[in-house]
Amino acid sequence: MTTSASIPNSDAFQPVQTQTWVNGRHVMRCVRVIDETWDVKTFVFAAEQPLMFFFKPGQFVTLELEIEGEQVMRSYTISSSPSVPYSFSLTIKKLPGGLVSSWMHDHMQQGDELVVHGPVGRFNVIDYPSDKYLFLSGGVGVTPLMSMARWLFDTNSDANVVFAHSARTPRDIIYRRELDHMDSRVDNFTIHTVAERVEIGQTWNGYRGFLDIDKLNMICPDVLEREVFCCGPEPYMRAVRDMLKSLGFDMARYHEESFGEIPAAAEEQAIEQADVAQEEHEALEASDLHSVEFTETGKSVRIAPGETIHAAATKLGLHIPKACGMGICGTCRVKVVSGDVAMEHNGGITDDEIEAGDVLSCCSVPTGNVQIEY
Ligand code: FES
Repeated sequence: MTTSASIPNSDAFQPVQTQTWVNGRHVMRCVRVIDETWDVKTFVFAAEQPLMFFFKPGQFVTLELEIEGEQVMRSYTISSSPSVPYSFSLTIKKLPGGLVSSWMHDHMQQGDELVVHGPVGRFNVIDYPSDKYLFLSGGVGVTPLMSMARWLFDTNSDANVVFAHSARTPRDIIYRRELDHMDSRVDNFTIHTVAERVEIGQTWNGYRGFLDIDKLNMICPDVLEREVFCCGPEPYMRAVRDMLKSLGFDMARYHEESFGEIPAAAEEQAIEQADVAQEEHEALEASDLHSVEFTETGKSVRIAPGETIHAAATKLGLHIPKACGMGICGTCRVKVVSGDVAMEHNGGITDDEIEAGDVLSCCSVPTGNVQIEY
């Protein structure tokens, strides 16, 4: 039997009125800075208005910063989980010579504002549901996997998770206590740590050296049955790929992510492509060119087939924000007012955004005359 005292009075409950974020440009405030290890900090961000940060664990955001008078964009995976939705965290290692990571460590403080684009990304645990996961991370590559682990742990998922994290030394292990805590609380989460070397004064009972096939077999004998997510430096991920292939693993179930400075090679390639496009442009008939009109600024230009919307904007001195240049980060998203474009993206835009007429300007090529809202 229930009594009136035990029946919830609907007047006593206020539905949550906060908004949720969607992929776009957001102004955030840093609400906390936490030292994780000697060279890694976690920056926690919240919005001015209460905003709930739902995203798929493993996704990333792109920071828009101004450093020494220059606009700089850089992508970082979110380390927190959407199960704690009133803030989100980025965990950043200070890289030697790293422009953005050094700036964040040296300048970003509690109370500071920051512009963030996102969240986006296909490397996430929601789009690849499984009963069994293997998470493999090297160094600060642990961040997206930590987001996934926190999500599965917080939501009391039945999925079995084996998490193998490799670090240089024991003092470089990020989230060590939290990972141990998760391991100690439930029987479907197991953490294994591999330290490349152990220094004088440190005690270490985990694996030593690099992750190799013998260690992988000990850590995860049923690897062939698992969905594998891997994030770390390229040599680490290459070694993991080689190990999995040698075991006959179905690579359709392997997912990897790496982030860092945009490789110089990609920048050079873009410059070369622009030079070639310029030469081709000069050889083309006027009728072969496509007109790109930017409706908000009232500027237009004629470009050669194959040139991107972003390149067209750059010719006019319009600076559409851009970070990855590869259709990953979503920073360069614009709306097509009229005309058709061919877009080859890598997950930086959602189906809903495409449906609404948005495109990623860095990887979208007009197939005729187009009007762009910018
Ligand atoms: S710049 Fe990253 S998607 Fe275009």
